[in-house]
Amino acid sequence: MDTILITGGSGYIGSHTCISLLEENYNVLIIDSLINSFENSIEKIKRIFYEKDKNIDNRIQFLKGDLRNKNWLDQIFIDYNKSHKSIKFVIHFAGLKSIYSSIKTPLEYWNMNITSTLSLLEVMKKNECFDLIFSSSATVYKPITSRLLKETDVLEPTTPYGRTKLCIEKILKDLYDSDRNWRIANLRYFNPIGSHPSGHLLENPKAMSSNLFPAILKTIRGEQEKLLVFGKDWPTYDGTCVRDFIHVMDLADAHLATFHFLKKNSSKFVSINIGTGRGKSILEVIKTFQLINDVQFDYEFVEKRLGDQPYLVADNKLALELLDWEPRRNLFDMCHDTLKHLLNS
Ligand SMILES: NC(=O)c1ccc[n+]([C@@H]2O[C@H](COP(=O)([O-])OP(=O)(O)OC[C@H]3O[C@@H](n4cnc5c(N)ncnc54)[C@H](O)[C@@H]3O)[C@@H](O)[C@H]2O)c1
Repeated sequence: MDTILITGGSGYIGSHTCISLLEENYNVLIIDSLINSFENSIEKIKRIFYEKDKNIDNRIQFLKGDLRNKNWLDQIFIDYNKSHKSIKFVIHFAGLKSIYSSIKTPLEYWNMNITSTLSLLEVMKKNECFDLIFSSSATVYKPITSRLLKETDVLEPTTPYGRTKLCIEKILKDLYDSDRNWRIANLRYFNPIGSHPSGHLLENPKAMSSNLFPAILKTIRGEQEKLLVFGKDWPTYDGTCVRDFIHVMDLADAHLATFHFLKKNSSKFVSINIGTGRGKSILEVIKTFQLINDVQFDYEFVEKRLGDQPYLVADNKLALELLDWEPRRNLFDMCHDTLKHLLNS
């Protein structure tokens, strides 16, 4: 059976997407340098399947390494092709993702995100693997405050992180224009939160993160005194930023749906927003989390962060139209599933 290569598959979205793929009986190979994740996420994925699939150890492979090591990567493709487990599809999650760090250390971001993608694409082309889903981001858009963002809106990222994502989208378009064998989807994620309902997996970055749910969990565990809320006078309905929060399992399922969509086409290049189409403020999410889980924690309003935008919500009509997919989980699920991990640990 063919193998789906998941770059960055030990990370937050990659590990959850592996679950969706394994549930549909696909075999996955994860390549991850572990710069921002822990190897035990592979064991955690397996744990979810042990009872129902005794063969799970053979269906998920992990190789530790950096995508920028092109010769090493090429050898993996060659070995897999020889062993009748050819790598025929890639989902490319690997990359650095902090908006704030990218402003402080732009060279690291350009090097990591662009060099690793170029290395991957060269190896894919050499080994005749032409199918790719790329993890892009809502940060590629020029900020607007009044309406939903459409795929046709102006692309004008305001941070180095967003610019690396847009640059990769452009590289992919050039590649597609040069050779119509490629089938490529840029998925522009909005704000994934939550975790698998088993409570085994979690957003658990190695790097310092001020993402909302890891920060809430840190506060509940007492690892930090208060949750910091960045800004209270944004031009939104309650003064805090509004985001399109999407359950990470809905996002994972969107990858599966995109995989099927690309396979139906003989040649494709497409960019698709993946969000719910509904905005929620940071304050609303905090209050919902407290109410649903019956937990209390202190939060404090502090200065706005560099690179933040007040309002970022997807027009998701294209996704609903093209993919056989729609978001099925609500804010209740996002808050509830996240706390389960704390109770399990
Ligand atoms: N989480 C979000 O809110 C969000 C939103 C929009 C887009 N994205 C994009 O989605 C992708 C996945 O995000 P995530 O939240 O799972 O991040 P993550 O940091 O949890 O996962 C990324 C993984 O890639 C690995 N990695 C990084 N550089 C590598 C390299 N050169 N070679 C091999 N492995 C490497 C890291 O160790 C990590 O495990 C990223 O590209 C990110 O930019 C994330």
